[in-house]
Amino acid sequence: MSSRAIEHFDDKARETFEHAGRTTVYGGELLRHPVYTRILHWTVALFFFLALFSGFGIYLPWLFRWFTPIFGGGQLSRIMHPYFGVAFVFFFALQALNWIQPMLWAPGDTRWLRNIKTIASGEEKMDPPDTGFFNAGQKAMFWEIVAGCIVYLITGIILWAGAKTFGRISVAISYVLHDISALIMLGGIFIHIYLSTIGEPGTFHSMIRGAVSEAWAWTFHPAWYKQVTGRDPVQACEEARRQMNAGSKS
Ligand code: HEM
Repeated sequence: MSSRAIEHFDDKARETFEHAGRTTVYGGELLRHPVYTRILHWTVALFFFLALFSGFGIYLPWLFRWFTPIFGGGQLSRIMHPYFGVAFVFFFALQALNWIQPMLWAPGDTRWLRNIKTIASGEEKMDPPDTGFFNAGQKAMFWEIVAGCIVYLITGIILWAGAKTFGRISVAISYVLHDISALIMLGGIFIHIYLSTIGEPGTFHSMIRGAVSEAWAWTFHPAWYKQVTGRDPVQACEEARRQMNAGSKS
């Protein structure tokens, strides 16, 4: 699909879904994620966890047997797991089309990754000035999920059809790759949930209400802040600090 066709598809979907929810952007805030993106994100998350929990019962039944009653027993978990997986991959594919543009790698992203120790330590007040809508860590996680979905799809179909269709060796290799992919993605999602909630306060709002504070934007995504407001993020931050100091003195 060409990038114009993707944009056209996404614009139509965004318009259609805008009526399914509400996004209120108050003064001092910026629109971050429209309704369509939020619906996709939480649908992806729902099917991810359904696939994960039904998969746990199949992967290590002696340890995770207590998950299986949620799905109506071990047998039903096994039957439902591939459907949850396919739904996860399908909705993530829509999200990938929706986000492909801001997820493209930029030269500043490599610098961000080289600088990751300083950024993670919180020594700097703001992320590097060329950090756009998504930072390099977010992009890396996104592309890891894209790769993971491709692995799930290929190995999942082989496991679903079984040894009679694909042979025992393909099934054995698929088990290993399927499980490695799940473990890598699970690790990434743990970090993602931590950063989106406690790690970077204010981020969670963006996927619930769709909006973020300007202070959040200039702190974590200064180049995006500059792009949407036309203002210099460092100056905006200094100005806000001066106003706060003046307010606390009066
Ligand atoms: C309870 C679980 C989750 C929470 C609280 C959460 C929260 C969020 C938030 C707040 C954002 C917006 C970040 C921003 O605007 O900068 C986001 C983005 C994103 N989410 Fe989630 N999410 C969860 C689960 C998932 C799952 C299960 C997946 C996929 C398997 C996923 C994939 C993504 C991706 C690819 C992005 C964009 C890149 C990024 O921000 O890392 N999320 N999530």
